Parts: sequence; structure tokens; C-alpha cells
Amino acid sequence: MTKNSGHGKRARRTLGAGVMLLVLAAGAPAQDNRSWKPLAADNVHDPASPAVTQLQAPGEALSKLPPASGGNLVRWGAALQQGLIAPRSGADAKSGSDAMVLELDVLLDPNGSLPPVRFAHADHTRWLDCSNCHPQLFEMQKGASGISMLRILEGEQCGTCHGAVAFPLTECKRCHNQPWGAAAAPKGKP
Ligand code: HEC
Ligand code: HEC
Ligand code: HEC
Repeated sequence: MTKNSGHGKRARRTLGAGVMLLVLAAGAPAQDNRSWKPLAADNVHDPASPAVTQLQAPGEALSKLPPASGGNLVRWGAALQQGLIAPRSGADAKSGSDAMVLELDVLLDPNGSLPPVRFAHADHTRWLDCSNCHPQLFEMQKGASGISMLRILEGEQCGTCHGAVAFPLTECKRCHNQPWGAAAAPKGKP
């Protein structure tokens, strides 16, 4: 019993400290502590290549974009929506963005042990074509693709991109983003 109440006190103290941190965070302007490796040290570019001095430094380009906690530390969806970037649909300098944005959410795993996943087509079709996912990765029918976290972690399904070119799988909450029971009518569905 004494042991338990000790734990309780410690938990309350930790909670108190957490609330303090939150208050501090709300009061002060958010500090951006992000940093990116220079091209010559990123283990991707050849440090001897002249391109390393000609290309824009990642820190210079990425520090202006909204922060994320994982991957390359940028919230790309927000950057796009705020008009900070304007990706082209092709390598041709003349090609514009002809993305066909689909406002259709699919609620996945509504009764799982983790909060449900609201898959927003809009977040994806701002840059991807239907054919990037359908029909190879997913059926065009809710519940028909046998989606599972195990397969995602093995680099299939959502894991084809997340952890490779999109934010990493360690960012659980960005996918498990929906409170249980609160999603009776996802966007795009009556
Ligand atoms: C990034 C991947 C991705 C892209 C791109 C994508 N979809 Fe989907 N789509 C999904 C997933 C995941 C599901 C859910 C599949 C499941 O539950 O088995 C889905 C389901 C659907 C469904 C069924 C919805 C339902 O409630 O039954 C339709 C219709 C659909 N997509 C149409 C499209 C169209 C049209 C496009 C292009 C404009 C598109 N999708 C682009 C991943 C994608
Ligand atoms: C074909 C590639 C691809 C597939 C497959 C894919 N995604 Fe994405 N997803 C992206 C890209 C690219 C972005 C935008 C870049 C980023 O946020 O890192 C994105 C963004 C998101 C976002 C928005 C996050 C935010 O906070 O802005 C969520 C949530 C998400 N994906 C969940 C999923 C889920 C769940 C699946 C599987 C059902 C899935 N994605 C499958 C490429 C993909
Ligand atoms: C890219 C998106 C994405 C990320 C990131 C992600 N998950 Fe998932 N997770 C899913 C989807 C989609 C499902 C739904 C599978 C289904 O319908 O059963 C799922 C299902 C699950 C399940 C239910 C078991 C299962 O296989 O269905 C657990 C547990 C889970 N995830 C844990 C985690 C944990 C822990 C993390 C972080 C380390 C994480 N997930 C990160 C997309 C994601």
C-alpha cells in the first residue's frame, strides 16, 4: 500500500512537471532546434563531387518549412497546404500541378488497441496519382486489402512509402490520429 501511494505521488509530480513544460511551451515562441546534415556528410552524396557545393544546403531549404518530429523534420502536407512548396507533376519545367484531390477519408481499425487510423485521400492525392496505390497496394474498397501493422512494418501497404519517402513508422500518432468512436461520419461520406 505504501509502495502504491509512493508511485501515485511520483506520477503526480511527473504530471505537474509536464503541465509546467506545456505552460512554458505555450508562453514562449516555439524554438526551432532542427538541424540537417550538410550534403557532403549525409552518406548519400559523394563528398568529392562539385555538386555538393552547387546544390542548396538542406538546412537552408528545409528550415523554412513547418516542423515535424521525425524523418526529415518537415511537415510536408502542411508545407504544401500553406503554399510554401508547389511540386510539379513532371520533370518538364513546363509541367504544372495537375493533382486531382480526392476528399475521401477511410477509417481503418476503428476498434484496435491503438487509436484508429483516419486515412485521408486528400493528404495523398495532393501529390500522388490513384495508380500509385490502386490496385497494387490497396483495393478500392474499404476493408478489402487486408491491411495490418505487421505488413506495414515489413514495408508493404502504407510501409511502401512511410519509412521510405514519407514520414517514418515511428511516428505512430500521425497515423493513429483519431479518437475511438469519434469518427462516425468521415469526410466525403454522408
Ligand atoms: C496513398 C495511397 C492511395 C492513393 C494515392 C489513393 N488511394 Fe484510394 N484507398 C487507399 C486505401 C488505403 C483505401 C482503403 C482500402 C481498404 O480499406 O482496404 C482506399 C480506398 C478507396 C476507395 C474505397 C472507399 C470505401 O469507403 O470503400 C475508393 C473509391 C478509392 N480509394 C478511390 C481512390 C481514387 C479515385 C484515387 C485517386 C484520385 C485514390 N483512391 C488514391 C489508398 C489510396
Ligand atoms: C504511395 C506512397 C504512400 C502510401 C502507400 C501511403 N502514404 Fe501516407 N503519405 C505519403 C506522402 C508522400 C505523404 C506526405 C509527406 C509526409 O507527410 O511525409 C503522406 C502523408 C500521410 C499522412 C498525413 C500526415 C500529416 O500529419 O500531414 C497520413 C496520416 C498518412 N500519410 C497515413 C497513411 C496511411 C495510414 C497509409 C496506408 C493506409 C498511407 N499513408 C499510405 C505517401 C504514402
Ligand atoms: C503509416 C501509418 C502508420 C503508422 C506510422 C503506424 N501505424 Fe499502426 N496501423 C496503421 C494502419 C493503417 C493500421 C490498421 C490495420 C488494420 O486495419 O487492422 C494499423 C494497426 C495497428 C495496430 C493494430 C494491429 C494490427 O495489426 O492491425 C497496432 C497495435 C499498431 N498499428 C501499432 C502501431 C505502433 C505502436 C506504431 C508506432 C510505432 C504504429 N502503429 C504506427 C498505420 C500506421
